[in-house]
Amino acid sequence: MKHSRKLVFVCNGSDCKKEGAKKLSKELKNLTNESSMKGTCKFIKTKCMDMCKTAPNVIVGDHFCKKANLAAVIGQIKKS
Ligand code: FES
Repeated sequence: MKHSRKLVFVCNGSDCKKEGAKKLSKELKNLTNESSMKGTCKFIKTKCMDMCKTAPNVIVGDHFCKKANLAAVIGQIKKS
Protein backbone atom coordinates (compact mmCIF):
# COMPACT_ATOMS: atom_id res chain seq x y z
CA MET A 1 0.00 0.00 0.00
CA LYS A 2 1.36 3.39 -0.97
CA HIS A 3 1.66 6.06 1.73
CA SER A 4 -0.48 9.01 0.77
CA ARG A 5 0.68 11.19 3.64
CA LYS A 6 4.06 12.86 3.74
CA LEU A 7 6.17 11.87 6.70
CA VAL A 8 7.77 14.71 8.61
CA PHE A 9 10.23 13.78 11.33
CA VAL A 10 10.82 16.45 13.96
CA CYS A 11 13.72 15.93 16.35
CA ASN A 12 12.71 16.23 19.98
CA GLY A 13 16.12 15.75 21.50
CA SER A 14 17.24 18.21 24.16
CA ASP A 15 19.29 20.49 21.89
CA CYS A 16 16.55 20.77 19.30
CA LYS A 17 14.00 21.43 22.05
CA LYS A 18 16.22 24.23 23.31
CA GLU A 19 16.21 25.71 19.82
CA GLY A 20 12.42 25.63 19.63
CA ALA A 21 11.55 22.23 18.14
CA LYS A 22 8.40 21.93 20.26
CA LYS A 23 7.09 25.31 19.15
CA LEU A 24 8.00 24.51 15.55
CA SER A 25 6.16 21.23 15.67
CA LYS A 26 3.06 22.88 17.15
CA GLU A 27 3.15 25.62 14.50
CA LEU A 28 3.55 23.04 11.73
CA LYS A 29 0.55 21.06 12.96
CA ASN A 30 -1.61 24.16 13.34
CA LEU A 31 -0.67 25.56 9.96
CA THR A 32 -1.24 22.34 8.06
CA ASN A 33 -4.55 21.70 9.84
CA GLU A 34 -5.86 25.14 8.96
CA SER A 35 -4.83 25.08 5.32
CA SER A 36 -5.50 22.97 2.27
CA MET A 37 -2.69 20.71 3.47
CA LYS A 38 -4.94 19.23 6.15
CA GLY A 39 -4.45 15.48 6.43
CA THR A 40 -1.55 15.40 3.97
CA CYS A 41 1.24 15.14 6.54
CA LYS A 42 2.09 12.88 9.39
CA PHE A 43 4.35 14.42 12.03
CA ILE A 44 6.61 12.09 13.93
CA LYS A 45 8.70 13.10 16.92
CA THR A 46 12.12 11.50 17.04
CA LYS A 47 14.93 11.22 19.51
CA CYS A 48 18.23 12.98 18.90
CA MET A 49 19.34 12.61 15.27
CA ASP A 50 22.97 13.25 16.18
CA MET A 51 23.13 16.53 14.29
CA CYS A 52 22.65 18.82 17.27
CA LYS A 53 24.88 21.58 15.88
CA THR A 54 22.24 22.36 13.26
CA ALA A 55 19.27 22.24 15.67
CA PRO A 56 16.35 22.24 15.25
CA ASN A 57 16.40 19.42 12.71
CA VAL A 58 13.45 18.23 10.65
CA ILE A 59 13.35 15.57 7.94
CA VAL A 60 10.76 15.84 5.19
CA GLY A 61 10.79 12.73 3.04
CA ASP A 62 14.48 12.31 2.21
CA HIS A 63 15.42 15.96 2.73
CA PHE A 64 17.09 17.29 5.87
CA CYS A 65 15.98 20.75 7.01
CA LYS A 66 18.82 21.98 9.19
CA LYS A 67 18.25 24.98 11.46
CA ALA A 68 14.66 24.48 10.46
CA ASN A 69 12.01 27.17 10.55
CA LEU A 70 8.35 27.13 9.68
CA ALA A 71 8.73 28.59 6.18
CA ALA A 72 11.56 26.23 5.21
CA VAL A 73 9.72 23.11 6.35
CA ILE A 74 6.41 24.11 4.73
CA GLY A 75 8.30 24.92 1.52
CA GLN A 76 9.94 21.51 1.57
CA ILE A 77 6.64 19.74 2.25
CA LYS A 78 5.09 21.47 -0.76
CA LYS A 79 8.09 20.58 -2.94
CA SER A 80 8.19 16.90 -2.03
S1 FES B 1 18.82 17.01 19.75
FE1 FES B 1 18.11 17.11 17.72
S2 FES B 1 19.78 16.35 16.63
FE2 FES B 1 20.42 16.16 18.66
